[in-house]
Amino acid sequence: MVAGKTILITGGAGFIGSRLAVDLATRHRVRVFDNFLAQVHSDPACTRIALARAGVEVITGDLRDPAAIAAAVADTRPDVILHLAAETGTGQSFRQPTHYAQVNVIGTALLAEAVRRHAPGLQRLVLASTRAVYGEGAFIDDSGMRARAMPRRAGDMAHGHFRVQGRDGQPLVPVPTDADCPVAPASIYAATKLMQEHLLRQAFWGSATQVGILRLQNVYGPGQSLDNPYTGVLSIFCRQIHEGQTLSIYEDGQITRDFVMVDDVVRAFAMMVEAPAMPQEILDIGSGQGITLLEVARRLLGCLGAPRDRLQVTGAFRPGDIRHAVADISRAAALLGWTPRIPLDAGLLALAHWSGRQMRPPAAMASA
Ligand SMILES: NC(=O)c1ccc[n+]([C@@H]2O[C@H](COP(=O)([O-])OP(=O)(O)OC[C@H]3O[C@@H](n4cnc5c(N)ncnc54)[C@H](O)[C@@H]3O)[C@@H](O)[C@H]2O)c1
Repeated sequence: MVAGKTILITGGAGFIGSRLAVDLATRHRVRVFDNFLAQVHSDPACTRIALARAGVEVITGDLRDPAAIAAAVADTRPDVILHLAAETGTGQSFRQPTHYAQVNVIGTALLAEAVRRHAPGLQRLVLASTRAVYGEGAFIDDSGMRARAMPRRAGDMAHGHFRVQGRDGQPLVPVPTDADCPVAPASIYAATKLMQEHLLRQAFWGSATQVGILRLQNVYGPGQSLDNPYTGVLSIFCRQIHEGQTLSIYEDGQITRDFVMVDDVVRAFAMMVEAPAMPQEILDIGSGQGITLLEVARRLLGCLGAPRDRLQVTGAFRPGDIRHAVADISRAAALLGWTPRIPLDAGLLALAHWSGRQMRPPAAMASA
């Protein structure tokens, strides 16, 4: 697909969306649709200025408002829609299931209806989905065979038993997860994200609109809200380190995550827009490397010049937290030609420097 497309990004003022919009605006006409959710946007004016400077047009509206999303689609007449608008807090979703369903599920249905009515010529629609749809993900048993991981039980975890087990209680070993792994959402957030995938695939089945799905691992980097307590563990750690707090590490510290730098994720979306043929299969987007939360916390403390032992492994646990996450990114490499480029340590340094600038008091920033 050549340059010069008209692109509508829902959630385009958010962490990933705003960086994506600025990048795509160098080659395409880009509009974003976003309600500037207060939980995410502590300084919406700053985001608006950055988007305007990049030539990105902003439509302020709520995905749950049928007239607003219909007008955005009708006025923009996009060639491509990138659907990123969502409520994203795993823990918060347990307390607000109706709200999460309204934004993530009904909002996506309204977007699909708006496209069918007002943009029948839409060529591509790409969804920002999540590895959370897998729940615990892919595992093997001690004979090396794939084995189904059972959801972990609060009663076991309360006794310090955090490991993932098979159906008969046998210990399992995690392996990189790809879309061949059965889905088993372990939170309401994850359930609503899976429903987004199903809705969009069914809504455009047999139509000229191609649907692409990227299942993202933990995205981190400059620009992720330092104030939103519900997402972005590394941003939360950054704030806590700057404030001199001791980091609380859940479970036994051995929770594993696959952290992928936001610029690599932006490149994956851009490739979905610009590839001559967009992959129709679900693609997993991550670094392909797992790291324990204990280790990544130590490295981040180091990046910010804090003692690497200013942390505490608490044994606490949360509903919806899965134990291990590592992406099998071979399909993204084979079908999209995408591989991550930014090593974790370089990404952590970039995050640390950016967060330092954000946390500095205004007077210090003015004289900097
Ligand atoms: N960041 C990650 O680690 C990660 C991982 C997996 C998947 N994802 C997915 O990627 C997408 C973007 O995530 P992000 O990290 O940039 O989150 P974000 O919260 O920074 O961005 C989401 C944007 O959606 C907007 N939004 C929320 N509700 C809206 C509504 N009702 N109407 C219009 N706009 C609304 C918010 O204002 C925000 O700007 C989400 O769909 C998320 O599920 C993110």
